[in-house]
Amino acid sequence: QRSNPAIKAANIKKVDLLVNRSEREIRHGHKGAVIWLTGLSGAGKSTLAVRTERALFEAGWQTYVLDGDNLRHGLNSDLGFSADDRSENIRRIGEVASLFASAGLIVLTAFISPYQRDRSRARSASADSFHEIYVKASLEACESRDAKGLYRRARAGEIKEFTGVSAPYEAPQAPELVIDTEQADVERCVHDLAEYIRKVCSR
Ligand code: PPS
Ligand code: ADP
Repeated sequence: QRSNPAIKAANIKKVDLLVNRSEREIRHGHKGAVIWLTGLSGAGKSTLAVRTERALFEAGWQTYVLDGDNLRHGLNSDLGFSADDRSENIRRIGEVASLFASAGLIVLTAFISPYQRDRSRARSASADSFHEIYVKASLEACESRDAKGLYRRARAGEIKEFTGVSAPYEAPQAPELVIDTEQADVERCVHDLAEYIRKVCSR
């Protein structure tokens, strides 16, 4: 984490907003939430995030998707894949997701987020609005899908510190929901995730 001493010097005071979160949630007709998808590359995070968002959006829900591949082109374009950079990546996304939830939106995040400690910190940023969803698929399944050809390149030594191959993935110990993408097809997984979100975000 890059810290700014000026902030710690207590010369910055929070501004109180005149629109509060519950007013926003009443207007939207549902609660804001962070739906945090974690899993290996190729487990199905992006597919499920965008398809579930589409389903909820069509039903009138206020949603947004934050995806690792997209955010790394902008906000996090200065970060790589070392353990420290991944931690900073997840710290920033945890803060951004928390802001989205405060705005009354349902934000679906699709990041590998391989370290339990980083996911716990993201949870702390959003407290009870945070839902950890383990998008579960074995390394073998992800590698055989190899939708982007990244595993082949990682095995060939062309990509360093690749999750599951040459960098760790710490599976969640107590996620709110497990979506097993080896056991169920995309339609079923989207259905199950959307149902979970409807349940926890209904007012
Ligand atoms: S992390 O670990 O949460 O910070 O990663 P994330 O921001 O989700 O970015 C993962 C996507 O970056 C691509 N990529 C890599 N992944 C893992 N390890 C290495 N070394 C790597 N290099 C590039 C890859 O496309 C990941 O996207 P997904 O959608 O998970 O396949
Ligand atoms: P990630 O974002 O976790 O890297 P992607 O969504 O980019 O994963 O890729 C997952 C791949 O697995 C896609 O090609 C998708 O069609 C496929 N797939 C197979 N079964 C499922 C499932 N049940 N849920 C999600 N994706 C699945």
